[in-house]
Amino acid sequence: MKIFITGGTTGIGLAIAVQYLEAGHEVGICGRNIQKVELEKNYPLLKMYSVDVYDKDLLKEAVSDFADQNLDIMILSAGNYSDSALHQLSYAESTEMLKCNIVGAINTLEISRDIMNINKKGHIAVIASVSGLLNYPKATIYSKTKRALIQIADAYRRALEDFGIHITIVAPGYVNSPRLRELNNDDLSKKPFVVDCKFAASIIIKGIEEKKEMVVFPSKMKYLIGFLSILPTRLLTFIMLKRVKRQKNG
Ligand SMILES: NC(=O)c1ccc[n+]([C@@H]2O[C@H](COP(=O)([O-])OP(=O)(O)OC[C@H]3O[C@@H](n4cnc5c(N)ncnc54)[C@H](OP(=O)(O)O)[C@@H]3O)[C@@H](O)[C@H]2O)c1
Repeated sequence: MKIFITGGTTGIGLAIAVQYLEAGHEVGICGRNIQKVELEKNYPLLKMYSVDVYDKDLLKEAVSDFADQNLDIMILSAGNYSDSALHQLSYAESTEMLKCNIVGAINTLEISRDIMNINKKGHIAVIASVSGLLNYPKATIYSKTKRALIQIADAYRRALEDFGIHITIVAPGYVNSPRLRELNNDDLSKKPFVVDCKFAASIIIKGIEEKKEMVVFPSKMKYLIGFLSILPTRLLTFIMLKRVKRQKNG
């Protein structure tokens, strides 16, 4: 199969790339900086592209070069996140998040649709976040972008199913990626139910194989989110904001 992964240069995206490569598939990955890719060995079936997903023309060029009308799977792992509430974010940080998590995702969905539509088949996996499953005031802009992404992917699912193109929405809990470690000074001890990138990759690949509409993991986080999402909004907001305060104060 031919699989393209945006944000495949580190973290969850890179772990997915490695698992597909080990299984003998052709993989294309992109990120803004391909120099950061760290691999334990060479993979002849891997192609890398320096691309910002916000640049639709450049992204299209890369995906077309890789897939040439025959793209089996597209995985949207490119994501921009920080741990800050809106008032602590700079204008540049907020716009980077919106450009990558929303516009970049739409660019990727559009490009995938155009290529997959040629053969009337394909699968797209959109990596959102469990934080996008909860709706409460004062959530971070990151959570809001992921919530919007879930809605956008769902709308594309309806539009694309008649063309034989399936969409899996993925909502991970905490995954021990370089970015998450960087944001938490290498200390993830206060984060609940953390899993590693390898585990995340295998759950995501299984969800794609089984053509699941939605994959939420790990299970403990899935049940916690399920419980939180039925709480009244005021109680949910109180719990979520208290949790953030507790984490910040140690
Ligand atoms: N780790 C978690 O706990 C967690 C939990 C829930 C959801 N997620 C989501 O899972 C995805 C992967 O997260 P991760 O933790 O593995 O993060 P990561 O290690 O920071 O990886 C993010 C990837 O996206 C790329 N990227 C960022 N902005 C981009 C842009 N504008 N254009 C192209 N590529 C871009 C990065 O490469 P460059 O910087 O070189 O561009 C990198 O390859 C993200 O969508 C994230 O929101 C993560």
